[in-house]
Amino acid sequence: MTLTEEIEKLKTEKDAAVLAHYYVEPEIQEVADYIGDSFYLSKIAAGLEQRTIVFCGVSFMGESAKILSPDKRVLMPDLTADCPMAHMADAEAIAKAREEYEDLAVVCYINSTTELKAHSDVCVTSSNAVDIVKALPNKNIFFIPDKNLAHFVAKQVPEKHFVFHSGYCPVHEHMSVKEVKALKEAHPDAEVLAHPECSGAVRELADYLGSTSGIIQYASKSEASEFIICTEAGVDFELKRKNPKKRFYYPKTLPVCLDMKKNTLAKLRDTLLESGNEVQVGDEAGRLSKLSLEKMHELAGA
Ligand code: 13P
Ligand code: SF4
Repeated sequence: MTLTEEIEKLKTEKDAAVLAHYYVEPEIQEVADYIGDSFYLSKIAAGLEQRTIVFCGVSFMGESAKILSPDKRVLMPDLTADCPMAHMADAEAIAKAREEYEDLAVVCYINSTTELKAHSDVCVTSSNAVDIVKALPNKNIFFIPDKNLAHFVAKQVPEKHFVFHSGYCPVHEHMSVKEVKALKEAHPDAEVLAHPECSGAVRELADYLGSTSGIIQYASKSEASEFIICTEAGVDFELKRKNPKKRFYYPKTLPVCLDMKKNTLAKLRDTLLESGNEVQVGDEAGRLSKLSLEKMHELAGA
């Protein structure tokens, strides 16, 4: 039996659903029941019938699934797969901002620890942040931890006053502007599609800015046949699956999230087999962060 066949068998035996982010290895995306961006996967995780969820992504994704479905068993193929940006803000910074500003909403990117979510008013993802910030009644917005996503949102919601934090995604922040410009020169007809986590200099070169699923949808609908993709290269699998005749180019220093790549088929099989690597979230932190995540779902659906 191949690893994939073993996994398919174990999913049924263990009553488990496998969720995978677009950044994980193609062979995992192939065997997953649901593939998507972080907002889509958090919606799916909140409403599954299966008793067990195996989340192939990074810690904040598995934790969000556990927070939204506390009665389910949430497993991850590798519990050390973590997002460095999730740890780039802290509760003290939130307390300080709350003291300093009246009429403040603390808006927390889902790429954050459970503790940060627990101290925040609402969570957002890159696919709903603009709509959610617009829908908030508050004048002042403290946006944590990602400075790049915060600036992308602030530009589209000029009526609000933003307090920025200093966090960033190393994979997107360090993407080379020079390499993106070189791609533009080599492929002048290609459209540049970038994730809002990219630096301001890369965002300025983009024809479209959006979440991973936004990028995939844009490329699928566009009349262009060539695209320069400025996000983690794992999206290539879905981009090509949906658009076999289109061409996708990536910066020469391939943007790769090593934490996402810690998920492997063998680890997924072992996790299902042993029902190990269970995600744990503290009761109180879980209860409070659930409010921020549910508020996101409520406002995003409104
Ligand atoms: P998406 O919400 O676009 O899937 O992004 C998640 C992420 O980690 C980006 O680096
Ligand atoms: Fe975190 Fe960046 Fe990896 Fe996304 S790509 S999980 S933001 S380190």
